[in-house]
Amino acid sequence: MIRSPLMTVMVQAVRKAGRSLVRDFGEVENLQVSLKGPADFVSNADRKAERILHDELAKARPAFGFLMEESGEVDGTDTAHRWIIDPLDGTTNFLHGIPLFCVSLALARDGVPVAGVVYNPVTDELFIAEKGAGAFMNDRRIRVAARRNLADSVISCGMPHMGRGDLGRFAREYGALAPKVAGLRRTGSAALDLAWVAAGRFDGFWERDLSAWDMAAGIVLIREAGGYVSDLDDGDKILDKGHVVAGNEFIRRDLLAIVRAA
Ligand code: IPD
Ligand code: CA
Ligand code: CA
Repeated sequence: MIRSPLMTVMVQAVRKAGRSLVRDFGEVENLQVSLKGPADFVSNADRKAERILHDELAKARPAFGFLMEESGEVDGTDTAHRWIIDPLDGTTNFLHGIPLFCVSLALARDGVPVAGVVYNPVTDELFIAEKGAGAFMNDRRIRVAARRNLADSVISCGMPHMGRGDLGRFAREYGALAPKVAGLRRTGSAALDLAWVAAGRFDGFWERDLSAWDMAAGIVLIREAGGYVSDLDDGDKILDKGHVVAGNEFIRRDLLAIVRAA
């Protein structure tokens, strides 16, 4: 598989950040036993990975702007291009020694994500996609699952937790969906959820109250894997609205209808 110069830059940056996260992940377990816990250490690991991504990308494409979870926005001289970065998606998993987290990196052109990389450095699974060029996991082409019925489908979701989200609404959505599907899952990393939909592992995914950096890379992956992704009003304002539903043509449609009616 021949990678574009842009994708080569993105993959190098993400792998370097991933190496830093894996080193720190090894330390987290030791810190679990301390009374203070590893929370400070993890937010440090997070910032370190973001710094690596920023520095690598700024070196390769000095004119592009940035939207980063930890450091916010940095304007570029090229106003059309912006990197969207979540250096560690799945922080709670990381903190608990659960090896389900990733680096999520997207490039947006005029506000539209056109290239995305999601990398789980523990499993060494690298999901990449560029607009018009297909989606790949570790250089193998990926496609969304072909299942047409929710009854055969495994659907992933995000759940409200302490101080976040609307638990009542989620309970209604869950109640409406659970009896109709083969299984529901919650990984704790929205970027991985979307990548796994692209790879056909999950048949669908929905979540509310997300940020652009949780979703931008996954949107490109899903579309390039032949899937469909929208906001929960069936529109395209996913990054602005912060909610998302994804799957193949049939599953996304049915999932959206149930969630909206709940
Ligand atoms: C979180 C994860 C999680 C989602 C949360 C996000 P973080 O990102 O993607 O799956 O449910 O809403 O904030 O904090 O681990 O980068
Ligand atoms: Ca995140
Ligand atoms: Ca994060």
